[in-house]
Amino acid sequence: MRGERSPVKLDLHYVDPRLVALYDLENARGIDTDFYCDLARELDARVIVDLGCGTGVLTRELATGGRRVFGVDPSEAMLAAARGHPGAERVEWIVGDATTLGAVDADLVVMTGNVAQVFLEDHDWIAALQAIRTSLGPGGHLAFESRNPTARGWENWTRDETYERIDSANGPMRCWLDLVTVEPGRVVFEGHNVFENTGEVLVARSELRFRSQAEIDRSLTESGFEVQHVFGDWRRGPMRPSSPVMVFVARRA
Ligand SMILES: C[S@@+](CC[C@H](N)C(=O)[O-])C[C@H]1O[C@@H](n2cnc3c(N)ncnc32)[C@H](O)[C@@H]1O
Repeated sequence: MRGERSPVKLDLHYVDPRLVALYDLENARGIDTDFYCDLARELDARVIVDLGCGTGVLTRELATGGRRVFGVDPSEAMLAAARGHPGAERVEWIVGDATTLGAVDADLVVMTGNVAQVFLEDHDWIAALQAIRTSLGPGGHLAFESRNPTARGWENWTRDETYERIDSANGPMRCWLDLVTVEPGRVVFEGHNVFENTGEVLVARSELRFRSQAEIDRSLTESGFEVQHVFGDWRRGPMRPSSPVMVFVARRA
C-alpha cells in the first residue's frame, strides 16, 4: 500500500543457508572495507551501526579499540553466519531493520554492499533514512554506496559474463546471473545455483532499485541530512557518468 512501510522481504540469497554460505566466497573483503574503516577512524566514531551488515566482514573490523558496534540485519541466516567468525563476540548482533535500534546516539551509520538498493519503494527508503537519523547523535554521519545507474553495470549480469564453478561447503556448484527485466530505475535479475552432486537447482530472483545521484541527494536532504561528499570510487575519486558506484557521506543536519 502506498505510503505505508512494506514488510521486509528477503531474497533467497539471504535466507537459504546454502546460498548464505556462498556470500563470503563471492564478496571477499575489499577496498570498500578500507574506505569505511578509514572513515570511522577519521570521524573518531565510537558508536557505529552497520545496517544490513550481512555476514559482518566490515562489522567485525570496525569493532576494535573499545568501540560499541551494532550489526543489524533482518536475515537470521546472515547473522548466524556472522556470529560464527572469530571476533564476532565484539559486536552486538541484532535481527532487525533501520527502525529496530531507535536512538542509540551513534556517531556513524554505514550501509555497505549496496544495501541502499534493496529499498524498492521511495517511502521505504525515506522511512529508513528517517530511522537512521533517529539512531544518530547530533552531528553523526551516515555513509553508504549505491551502484551508479549511468554506468549501467547490469549489462554485465549475463550468463556469459558471470558463469563460474565454485567449490562450496555443499560441494561443487555452477553459478551465474541472468538479467530478467530492466526498467527505468529498477533491475530484476536471477541468480542460478546448480549443486553438481545432487543436481538441485536454486534460482534466486532479486530486484534492485537504481536511484540517480540527484534522487539520493534529494532524499537525504529531505530526511534531515547534509550531503558532505559523493565519491565515484573507493579511493575518493570524483563522480563521473562511468563511475561504478556513488559513495555518499552525509551528516545529520
Ligand atoms: C548485499 S548484502 C550486504 C551485506 C554487507 N553489508 C556487506 O557489505 O557485505 C545485503 C544485506 O541487506 C540485508 N537487508 C535486506 N533488506 C534489508 C532492510 N530492509 N534493512 C536492512 N538490511 C536489509 C540483507 O539481509 C543482506 O544481509
